[in-house]
Amino acid sequence: MHRIIIDGDPGHDDILAFLTALAHPEEIEILAYSTVVGNATVENCSRNALKVQDYFGVAIPVAQGYEQPLTRELHLAYQFHGKTGLDGAPFLKESQRRVEKKHAVEYLKDVLLSSEEKIEIVSMGPLTNIAMLIKTYPEVIAKIERLIMMGGCFSLGNALPKSEFNIYHDPEAARIVFDSPLKIAMAGIEACFAGAILLKDIEALQAKGKGTRLLKSILDFYSQYAYKNNWDRIPIFDVTPIMYLLKPEIFRVEQYHVEVEIKGEVTLGMTVCDERGPVYLPEVINPREVLLDCDREEFSKAFFDSFRILDERYEL
Ligand code: BDR
Ligand code: CA
Repeated sequence: MHRIIIDGDPGHDDILAFLTALAHPEEIEILAYSTVVGNATVENCSRNALKVQDYFGVAIPVAQGYEQPLTRELHLAYQFHGKTGLDGAPFLKESQRRVEKKHAVEYLKDVLLSSEEKIEIVSMGPLTNIAMLIKTYPEVIAKIERLIMMGGCFSLGNALPKSEFNIYHDPEAARIVFDSPLKIAMAGIEACFAGAILLKDIEALQAKGKGTRLLKSILDFYSQYAYKNNWDRIPIFDVTPIMYLLKPEIFRVEQYHVEVEIKGEVTLGMTVCDERGPVYLPEVINPREVLLDCDREEFSKAFFDSFRILDERYEL
């Protein structure tokens, strides 16, 4: 059983990742959902996290975190997610629930320190909250089993040629995280593209219950970018770390020491995976799990099946 905290910036793919996890309560228990600025303002991210939960009648605590990166200017991803961060699902109603009174860093610190067992953190947005959590309260590190993140890349970027959005958005935060003793698994761009969903499968999707209804609306909006670029598939980035929890056997993973570039002009936010190996890096004792590839068909099947499971549990 994976007991997890989700930290992210929902966001279409963030929400689909949350729902993929929600479909498997026998394997994943979601203890808290913290939000951070990224795809949209942090207020809108929190609003989205709450309204999706209302739609399914679940009530996992949502704690709101940082509204700015540590030092950089904001770059919201309106072009992919619209102004609200979750455009395209007008039937989702504003929630009457509120975010937790405590800031996400305080809230997560309390959840971690009061837990007898270690907890995994699944990060799906910029690492601002996580960096400040471990910097302010280093005692939580002993309570974190592992940080599994959607972020970074081995080589292929999206924000810049070799930098991925979540890391590029707050590279100083990512540097703090990668310089820490945390155990880290990095689901970067390569693994996300390897698990991309075919547009023909999205077109064939029929809404049969609450799960597939929301899935179809979100994907119809989110996949517009792929149509514009003549792609035949679209990566649902943030689902990848959740899929890694559910089906680790479908991924190809290699171990690397990873450093985050915070000064480069064309490489800002690059996650530099050191390929030189132990001869050059004798003192590296905490290499990261870097996800490089996965079985697309297995990924796609498990992804769509998750929404059929939600359909059975939550009728229209
Ligand atoms: C990441 O950036 C965001 O736009 C997505 O939600 C995902 O977390 C992909 O680079
Ligand atoms: Ca995200």
